[in-house]
Amino acid sequence: MEIKNTPIKEQKNYGNSVFPYVINGENQKEKSEFLLWVQQNKEALKATLHQNDAILFRNFPIQSAEDFEKMLDAAEFENMDYMGGAAPRTQVTKSRILTSNESPASEAIPFHHEMSQVPNPPNYIFFCCGISAEKGGATPIIRSKRVYEQFQNINAEFANKVEQSGVRYIRVMPEKTDADSAIGRSWKETFQCTSKEEAERKMQSLGMEYQWLEDNSVKTTTAILPAIRNYQDQKMFFNSIYAAYHGWNDARNEGHKSVTLADGAYIDDTVMNTLTEKMKEDTVSFHWQEGDVLWINNNTVLHSREPYQGARKVYASIAK
Ligand SMILES: [Fe+2]
Repeated sequence: MEIKNTPIKEQKNYGNSVFPYVINGENQKEKSEFLLWVQQNKEALKATLHQNDAILFRNFPIQSAEDFEKMLDAAEFENMDYMGGAAPRTQVTKSRILTSNESPASEAIPFHHEMSQVPNPPNYIFFCCGISAEKGGATPIIRSKRVYEQFQNINAEFANKVEQSGVRYIRVMPEKTDADSAIGRSWKETFQCTSKEEAERKMQSLGMEYQWLEDNSVKTTTAILPAIRNYQDQKMFFNSIYAAYHGWNDARNEGHKSVTLADGAYIDDTVMNTLTEKMKEDTVSFHWQEGDVLWINNNTVLHSREPYQGARKVYASIAK
């Protein structure tokens, strides 16, 4: 089977690339053949991913988290642990598959690069649909360089200030995971530890400042992190500004106070609201079909999640 793009109506065309690239497996049944094909074509598939920033595999014989894991193993992506991420998740397979963010169905998860608030974020994030929601529940994606361009177009002076300053993220993490919050992952799970001392060592190693609160939650402030990153000579809106500003709202946190410039100033509300409108032009959102697999270059693409109704199971995995 050759690697060829079979467009879906949601796909965007950017001249020398499409977004996402879509490979249709045409419902071939043989799992072992499919895995062999992935293994034999792994370099070409990765080149296609780098050219187009995301690949959707549709109608391939993927029926479980285990199949998804085997596909990633066949492509020889180097697995990465989820240390430092904010989202409540459950480990599904032994090594590399977790549920995607299990935060409440009624809430959208705003656009973000995976783990952009830690010093070494994954190069890749992968999703696989186990159960497609009755309504909603897409995983919208957008090219980060387009967001950077829009950010500049809206207010170049502010954009340059953010770029030069960098940003800090402020988040209160509970002792026990709060399933009612998209950023409710406990500090114990986040840092994979059981004691405050261990957590402190992890936070220090991540360059975070911290303050223990009365209820054993911890208020963390990251080091100054870059807001804009260069990736292969292109500027990316690589940060969690959008996600923190729009999404870090729960019993412990307020989004618009969750991200600051280096000097402590908050992010401009008008810029953020305009950016949200402008991003719609470049957003791709397709309804998940069961067995769909999405490969994303986390350096160049932001992803999000729509609210949904009914059961939904989407698996996630990250790689170095
Ligand atoms: Fe994510």
